Amino acid sequence: ASTLGAAAAQSGRYFGTAIAAGRLGDSTYTTVAGREFTMVTAENEMKPDATEPQRGQFNFGSGDQIYNWATQRGMKVRGHTLAWHAQQPGWMQSLGGSSLRQAMIDHINGVMAHYKGKLAYWDVVNEAFNEDGSRRQSNLQSTGNDWIEVAFRTARNADPSTRLCYNDYNIENWSYGKTQGVYNMIRDFKSRGVPIDCVGLQTHFTGGSSLPGNFQTTLSSFAALGVDVALTEVDVTNASTSQYAGLTQACMNVPRCVGITVWGVRDSDSWRSSENPLLFDGGGNKKAAYTSVLNALNAA
Ligand code: G3I
Repeated sequence: ASTLGAAAAQSGRYFGTAIAAGRLGDSTYTTVAGREFTMVTAENEMKPDATEPQRGQFNFGSGDQIYNWATQRGMKVRGHTLAWHAQQPGWMQSLGGSSLRQAMIDHINGVMAHYKGKLAYWDVVNEAFNEDGSRRQSNLQSTGNDWIEVAFRTARNADPSTRLCYNDYNIENWSYGKTQGVYNMIRDFKSRGVPIDCVGLQTHFTGGSSLPGNFQTTLSSFAALGVDVALTEVDVTNASTSQYAGLTQACMNVPRCVGITVWGVRDSDSWRSSENPLLFDGGGNKKAAYTSVLNALNAA
C-alpha cells in the first residue's frame, strides 16, 4: 500500500496523527493529513483547559472542529485526555481534596457525554507516574491514591462504547522503574476488575539509533495482562530511520498493538520542531523516516 493508513490497515491496524484545530486552514497540512492517516488525536483541543474553561461550562468548539474534520474523511478519533496534572483550567488547579475529586468526576461525565458513542478510544488518565515508578505528586494524587480507578470507573459508566486507556511517556523500556510502576497498576486493575482496555505508550524518543531496551517485550507484557497497546504520540530525534523502522516493527510483532499515532504531521507542526522528529518536512514532503515506516508496515 502507498499510504501509512492503508499500509497499517493491511494488518487491521490504524496509523494516526495529532491534529491542531488552528492548522486546519493550511491546505498543505490538510492534504497530507487527509491522505496518510486513519486515526486522529486532538493535540490540545479535548484537554480539560479547553473543554471546561469555567467550572460546569463546557466548550467543545475546537474539539468538534477536529472531530468533524476527521470523521468527514472516514478517520476515527482518539480522545485526549480527561484527567491530567497539566493543562487543567485555572479553576481546577486551585482545587484539592473532595472538591477536586468531584470536579474530576463531573469533568469526565460532562466531556464523555458530549462524545458518547463517537470516539474509538479515550486517554482517561495521562502521565500519573514519576520516573521511579511511584505516583506523581499532583493535585489529583492528593485526593487519594484511588483517583485513577475512580476516573476509569466513572468513564466506563459514562460511555461503555469507547475503549479506556492509560497513557504515559518513558514507559517503553521494560527495565525502567516507571514502566514497572504502570505495569503493576494495570495488573492490579485487571485482577480487581477495574475497567481498563488499553495502555498508550507515548513513544517520544530522544537520541540514539536503537530502541529503548526490550521495547517489544514491554508491548507484549502489557498485552499479556489483557489490554490493547498503542504507540500514541510518536516522535523521534532527527527522525532516526532505524528507530522509526524498529518501533513500527515492534508494534507489528505484537498482535494486540492496535496502531501507531505520530505527534504531528510536518516537522514544523511539532512541539519539538527544532529536532525535526516527524515523517514529513516543513514543506509536507516525505522524509526517509516515512519510507522506513511504510516499508515496515507493508512487510508485516
Ligand atoms: O493556544 C495558545 C495561544 O493562544 C497562545 O498565543 C500561545 C502562546 O504561548 O499558547 C498557545 O497554547 C499553547 C498550546 O500548546 C497550543 O499551541 C500552549 O502554550 C502550549 O503549552 C501547548 O503545548 C502543548 C503541550 O502538550 C502542553 O502540555 C503541545 O502543543 C502538545 O503537543 C503537548 O502534547 C503533550 C501531550 O498532550 C501529552 N504528552 C506529551 C505531549 C508533548 O508535550
